[in-house]
Amino acid sequence: MKEIVPSPPPIVRNDVASVQALFQKNVVPSYGRFDIALSHGSGSHVFDVTGKRYLDFGGGIAVTSLGHAHPAITEALIEQSRKLVHISNLYYHEPQGRLAEAIVNLIAPGKVFFSNSGAEANEGLFKLARKFGHEEGRYEILTAINSFHGRTLAGIAATGQDKVKKGFEPMMPGFRHVPYNDLAAVRAAVSPATIAIMIEGIQGEGGLTMASPEFLLGLRKLCDEKRMLLFMDGVQDGYFRTGRFQAFQRILENTPGAEKFLPDGISMAKSLGGGFPIGAFWARAPYGDLLGPGTHASTFGGTPLGCAVALKILEVVREEKLADNARAMGEFLKASLQALAKKYPQVIHETRGVGLMIGIELAANISSLPGDTTKTQAVLFVNLLHAAGLLTIPAGANVIRLLPALNLRQSEAEEGLKIIEAVAAKLAG
Ligand SMILES: Cc1ncc(COP(=O)(O)O)c(C=O)c1O
Repeated sequence: MKEIVPSPPPIVRNDVASVQALFQKNVVPSYGRFDIALSHGSGSHVFDVTGKRYLDFGGGIAVTSLGHAHPAITEALIEQSRKLVHISNLYYHEPQGRLAEAIVNLIAPGKVFFSNSGAEANEGLFKLARKFGHEEGRYEILTAINSFHGRTLAGIAATGQDKVKKGFEPMMPGFRHVPYNDLAAVRAAVSPATIAIMIEGIQGEGGLTMASPEFLLGLRKLCDEKRMLLFMDGVQDGYFRTGRFQAFQRILENTPGAEKFLPDGISMAKSLGGGFPIGAFWARAPYGDLLGPGTHASTFGGTPLGCAVALKILEVVREEKLADNARAMGEFLKASLQALAKKYPQVIHETRGVGLMIGIELAANISSLPGDTTKTQAVLFVNLLHAAGLLTIPAGANVIRLLPALNLRQSEAEEGLKIIEAVAAKLAG
């Protein structure tokens, strides 16, 4: 390993300020970053450049499905890079075909297109919908208020949050937002130009709100009735995070009449590559054939290297039964957090989510929260967790998201809970 991953140059050693200075001078400042410079990790732990150890409950925003520095990922990268890293999509190669087959087998007959990111996976579905409706002049896609679908121009037009659109107007036409979990409102919003509906099973960036089984079943019925496509954005909530491959499968478990529910398209990315950038969309048969040769492409979509890594991750997820682990750890975390909400109601309002996609909604106006009052409560709380050695992700102004690795251990779940409780107890006074 040593010769493959050489040590970083001295400037990134033990000095957060030097790393920050590199960013301030050279990196576009489009991200609000925390004052942490990370250096390396192992499993569910990461270390910053000063040597401080953190338990990672953020998972790189639902990406590091196997944690950090997993030997299976390293081996897959090395093994495949000795054969082929990239060849372009002008040619066939086995890893892409095998990964597409694995995804089809996990969902239902259909076809897969590979991209590099979640936004790009969604773009592909938007194009597929427009192609489907083109001859009839139907092009409009309905998405939910508070949704998040990526930062490209179509992504921000699709996203149901004003903050991502501000300053980038005019928006790309063809998107309208409808209330989440309000079937009657969606039905009323459908126009003769509407061709598709896209929703998240669990709104991640929007603050951890889950679609109800009735909403999902109702959308399917509405789409069938009006010949519209139903898309699920599974970029964040997918890939076994909820205990099933896709969040809708978990949401609809035990719902009578839901066995046959299937969307027409699903976007994915994040955990699929465990940190290696790869995204994909699956389109149900026969819609998977709508985008013929020359209609859609991506230079880096589905490289041999990316697909080999994704195939290896899938193998580990299966062998180590990580879907079951996500379910069990999620239940344990959620129940424990609910107990904390009861114990410290002045700090924690409630806990939402399922599997390893959990949101902790803070109480309104926690007066004891220290720090810059121009920052949201979520950011201030996350700062306290950081200081105590736990990485988590803010979602909206008042929710903390937990999106740890799918192979999180019981002892790590307990370690994280202890830190959250210590911070909550201190704030509760
Ligand atoms: C639901 C959802 N869709 C799309 C995206 C965009 O993915 P990416 O950042 O890989 O483009 C995200 C990213 O957070 C997401 O959560």
